[in-house]
Amino acid sequence: MLASLGPDAKVLAGGQSLVPLLSMRLAAPAHLVDINRLTELGYVRVRDGQVAVGALARHTQVLLDPAAAEVQPLLAKALALVAHPVIRNRGTTVGSIVHADPAAEMTAVLALLRGSVRLAGTGGERMVAADDFFLGPLESDVRPGELATEATFPILPARAGCGFAEISRRNGDYAICGVAAVIQLDDDGGIGSARTAYLSVAPRPLVLDLTQACAGAGADRADFAEAGHLAMARVDPEPDIHATAGGRCERRLGKQGSDPMASGEPAAAAAAQDFGITQPAEELHDVRLIVNGAARNVRVPARRLLSDCIRHDLALTGTHVGCEHGVCGACTVLIDGVAARSCLMLAVTADGARITTVEGLAEPDGTLSPVQQAFADCHGLQCGFCTPGFLTTITAALADNPEPSQDEAREIIGGNLCRCTGYQNIVRAVLRAAQLQRDRAASDRPAAREPQAGQA
Ligand SMILES: Cc1cc2nc3c(=O)[nH]c(=O)nc-3n(C[C@H](O)[C@H](O)[C@H](O)COP(=O)(O)OP(=O)(O)OC[C@H]3O[C@@H](n4cnc5c(N)ncnc54)[C@H](O)[C@@H]3O)c2cc1C
Ligand code: FES
Ligand code: FES
Repeated sequence: MLASLGPDAKVLAGGQSLVPLLSMRLAAPAHLVDINRLTELGYVRVRDGQVAVGALARHTQVLLDPAAAEVQPLLAKALALVAHPVIRNRGTTVGSIVHADPAAEMTAVLALLRGSVRLAGTGGERMVAADDFFLGPLESDVRPGELATEATFPILPARAGCGFAEISRRNGDYAICGVAAVIQLDDDGGIGSARTAYLSVAPRPLVLDLTQACAGAGADRADFAEAGHLAMARVDPEPDIHATAGGRCERRLGKQGSDPMASGEPAAAAAAQDFGITQPAEELHDVRLIVNGAARNVRVPARRLLSDCIRHDLALTGTHVGCEHGVCGACTVLIDGVAARSCLMLAVTADGARITTVEGLAEPDGTLSPVQQAFADCHGLQCGFCTPGFLTTITAALADNPEPSQDEAREIIGGNLCRCTGYQNIVRAVLRAAQLQRDRAASDRPAAREPQAGQA
């Protein structure tokens, strides 16, 4: 399909970068080729001195892979800083690399480790080294008709260690700046090589060799400071990315004064005109879903977001829509038990899925779920707009981690925004919900058998 559609088509992987661009009319491909059913590409394998990550391996899957973490710990260190857990549940590591955002952690990791990307097309396969793969901001060496099937990351050599650090406004936000480092010791225990890669400070991941500043056994603070100065001389960050975002959007659209945030069909048609494409007739799809335990069949246009399908086609208006680009968390639902942003998924992609919305959290007899009860107990809501997204996010997180610490409770809700800013009570509600969940599980367990006479 990709080969026959050529430059008019884009691959849809996790959609966590592409769908916001479509929603904001910053991209307008005529066709999307959804690869989410190519489950054979959902692998993480350690082989031939490399960690091979298939095109459908989600960030979470790579982050939690024990074999990969053992041989190349930089992967997990970096992935823990990629977005929030809900975004990581759907976003793919290969998709992030192809997207080539200079603020993305995994682009820097691939460049630092001298990894490669495998590309497949009708003409065969080719491997492209990271050095040649990143061409510029949001531009990588994937030709029309090609699919990136795999990224390979060399394992950490012997006597080497690695680290990843970044500064972001909130945990999980895109980094304002960040650095990955691999240091390898020589036979005498001194520093044999020191290489770093920077994100958000250049149009593509910037890799530096700082060995000359700190080589040898006697390296001390002054040498490390010297390495820092060397790096400072090479990086050339743009002014604050947040402050210049509007102007950059305008340049990308090639129009002075256009409003890239405008929504609705006229804006879509205008964007399509800008890109020199005609809009195809609306294509309809039959989508079968299990929603809150009941089978629901809907016929939707190909472009319908899952959030809109839930609200307008299924009339389940408990799922709220705030930002429509993955940032606020209000639209979060459970897809086959995993939390995901419904505003970043097309309804057709969800065909066959089991979806739980906020309406499906309570027991059939109306008993509130532990998370709902905890929000009521702890006054975890004010206006309530954000609440459905918090409830679904916390429900999924407590299934994975039934006893979160205070810090983990904060991490769980880190990707959700509450405009009323009642965060302290929401953190308390997470801990209370965990307790209620444990209490309910204990009371559901059959009572322990009374000890018989003669038994200890
Ligand atoms: C709120 C929010 C915060 C985020 N924060 C961060 C962050 O801090 N750090 C970070 O790195 N990322 C962040 N992301 C982006 C996230 O990591 C994305 O998952 C990732 O960048 C893209 O992966 P995807 O699978 O979703 O790709 P998609 O969105 O589906 O695709 C992205 C692009 O790559 C192309 N593409 C994807 N896969 C292939 C393939 N196999 N072959 C050819 N082309 C392909 C698509 O056509 C598209 O052009 C954030 C996203 C959101 C919504
Ligand atoms: S994250 Fe989906 S509406 Fe904000
Ligand atoms: S309670 Fe009002 S937005 Fe969160």
